[in-house]
Amino acid sequence: MTDARLLRGPLLSFLNDPGENDTPESGSVLHLEDGALWLEDGRIRAIGDYAELAPHLPAGLEIVDYRDKLIMPGFIDTHVHYVQLDIMASYGRQLLDWLNEYTFPEECRFAERAHAENVAEAFLDETLRTGTTTAQVFCTSHPVSVDTFFTAARRRGLRMLAGKVLMDRHAPDGLVDTVRGGLADSERLIADWHGTDRLGYTLTPRFAPTSSREQLDATGAVLRNAPDLYLQTHLSENRGEIDWVAELFPESRDYLDVYERYGLVGPRSTFAHGIHLSPDERKRLAQAGANIAFCPTSNLYLGSGLFDRLACREAGLNVSLASDVGAGTDLSGFATLKAAYQVGQLLDQPLTAWQGFYRLTLGNARALHLDAHIGSLREGGEADLVVLDPQATPLLARRTARTQCLAERLFALMILGDDRAVYATWAHGRLVHQRDASAPHDAPPDRIGQPA
Ligand code: GUN
Ligand code: ZN
Repeated sequence: MTDARLLRGPLLSFLNDPGENDTPESGSVLHLEDGALWLEDGRIRAIGDYAELAPHLPAGLEIVDYRDKLIMPGFIDTHVHYVQLDIMASYGRQLLDWLNEYTFPEECRFAERAHAENVAEAFLDETLRTGTTTAQVFCTSHPVSVDTFFTAARRRGLRMLAGKVLMDRHAPDGLVDTVRGGLADSERLIADWHGTDRLGYTLTPRFAPTSSREQLDATGAVLRNAPDLYLQTHLSENRGEIDWVAELFPESRDYLDVYERYGLVGPRSTFAHGIHLSPDERKRLAQAGANIAFCPTSNLYLGSGLFDRLACREAGLNVSLASDVGAGTDLSGFATLKAAYQVGQLLDQPLTAWQGFYRLTLGNARALHLDAHIGSLREGGEADLVVLDPQATPLLARRTARTQCLAERLFALMILGDDRAVYATWAHGRLVHQRDASAPHDAPPDRIGQPA
């Protein structure tokens, strides 16, 4: 039996990079004012103007009316640590102290399956509540933290990438693995999860300081033998970190060179941060086809620095957008866009709403080589969707009422929007989040402020 329905409402999707100008490149945006998405068995069977599609629909097809909303592809987060959910908003440290004081002690708790299960479910609830349907996720060094995450994501029908952290030095006993153990665990997890349903495996050496040369080398060997695997790590986030890497790897000419020596820099590699890269490092990353995950809320929170997005663009280096929770302060793609805009303002390179929403959807899908599956609304694509509500709050409704065009409406959403603006989230053709109808902004006026 097929599982089918029609979603009717305004549709917005990107066909290509809209560029950096106020007006998007011609042909880069698909916007249908009264559109229709015919979903069947997890995919988009047809997309078009409602009036054109309506005569071809089978009798009795359920129609979901989103005519006062805006339907977009589900958002994508290219770098996030699910295991750090509960240490978000831990006060006042830069990277290395923050890792030692808050992060490593919390990650030690993921040896316990029950804790991992609890956090994995809470993380996915929150992620879907913010309209994010795919993420590339750091677990901890404990294989059970990966098994529980993938199990929870699979049960919800989500497309997710994740991996076991590899770290064999400079961390508490409860977190360090060994070269052989880390490799064996990764290989077992790859066999169990990579390509299972909508899941993919990302090799995850934490960052250069917590892996020995031997561990980085072993990771590179796995990647060479299985080029369809992903790789994620951190790079050039913080000045103290960069100095430490230079001490630990004196043979390397710069931070990126450490990863290059071991074959970790390729088209499926995501490097979080890259704030303090040299022009030469940007050029080498671009040549390898790797991407930098720009994590603006995290960079501001840890005081790491201002990421020069346009310098990367000029070098031909692909930049994706990410939350980096738990150093990031918000899982919401809106918060990431707002902070990216603010960082851009300080560097005289403001982010347009076109460019921002392109990055959150098709741009991030391309960075992760997932654009054949997700990131756009197109026939045959997987039905991962976010339904946005431009009237979500009284303020947003007032501001939206003032707007004259789609660009202004999108920009208002990017700056004023949060999880309340996510009316519903769909994954693989199924409703996976519906904003709480009893929330105050949804209640009829006579109920607001009264006891339940
Ligand atoms: N560098 C190494 N580990 C981490 C981490 O967990 N978060 C951030 N922001 N940077 C890191
Ligand atoms: Zn990170």
